[in-house]
Amino acid sequence: MYNKIVNAGIRITRRCNMKCMYCNIQNTVRNDLSLDDWKKAIDIIKDLGAREIVILGGEPTLYDNILELVSYITQHANLTCNLTTNAFDNFDLVKQLLNNGLNSIGVSIDNLDIKNSISPLKAKNGLKLIDYLLSNEINPNITNYTVLNKKNVKSIIDLITFMNKKGVSTYILPFHWGNEGTFDHRKNNEQFAFVTEEDIKNYITTIDKIIDMKKKGFKIKNSIEFLENSKKHIKNLDWKCDGLSELRIDSDGSLVCCCDMLGKVNKRFNIFDLPKELDEFYLMREQDAKNCKGCLWPSSFEAELKKRR
Ligand SMILES: C[S@@+](CC[C@H](N)C(=O)[O-])C[C@H]1O[C@@H](n2cnc3c(N)ncnc32)[C@H](O)[C@@H]1O
Repeated sequence: MYNKIVNAGIRITRRCNMKCMYCNIQNTVRNDLSLDDWKKAIDIIKDLGAREIVILGGEPTLYDNILELVSYITQHANLTCNLTTNAFDNFDLVKQLLNNGLNSIGVSIDNLDIKNSISPLKAKNGLKLIDYLLSNEINPNITNYTVLNKKNVKSIIDLITFMNKKGVSTYILPFHWGNEGTFDHRKNNEQFAFVTEEDIKNYITTIDKIIDMKKKGFKIKNSIEFLENSKKHIKNLDWKCDGLSELRIDSDGSLVCCCDMLGKVNKRFNIFDLPKELDEFYLMREQDAKNCKGCLWPSSFEAELKKRR
């Protein structure tokens, strides 16, 4: 396994103000670290070599000291910082976050046709937030995190085109489902997943179109390597990662195996155990990874990493 930490995803809170049918994070309650603890954690993460912090949740804008934390990350620690939001009742806060140095903002919209969205409120709010940010001349760097599912597999091309015209990038998150209990993030919801031969055919056709668009210069964040590989693994979600490049940290400071799998490391290690116990952490995580059947998320980052090796 090849371990090299280049960024960190922090799940700043598990709390959320929406209930998406594909996400299980808020169903496990854990404490939120204090601002002072996160500041210490950020220093450790930086010393480990990470240059970018991705703030996730739950809904990260619900974290009490989010403004101060983003300032600390970008202005004190001098790291790049990105945050993804469901855009619920927080436009002013998002504007302040961007003014406080947040480098880029992620919104989550899966469909322009709200009634066909698998997360309609999120899609509706996300579209409004984009317009708000663009019309307020905030000039943000926006990425739309689009959950690619059975319902938008054809219309996603129009969504990417629409976003591209506004200067907004798209990052494709193929729908993850199943094995709840072994995996922390996803829900056992087969309804919108790519399971039949027909679904897989539709997925492959769409991904090929997206690859063509990327080659033509459309703002699409996934690497071609990720998109190509995802076609082989979308049915069984069985793309195994071969190392750790993104350190993932839970709301209470626990180090987690990755964004999704519940491993032995999740119970054993905390960010404050590092850097002292880094080798032990890597070893236990490697065992966890061997017991994992795979996914599509960690590998997407692995694919980026391979290009840099
Ligand atoms: C867990 S959310 C956290 C940030 C914020 N609350 C939001 O809704 O954007 C991060 C991203 O993961 C996506 N996501 C959650 N569950 C997923 C699943 N089962 N498959 C694919 N993407 C998923 C969400 O749509 C969102 O874009």
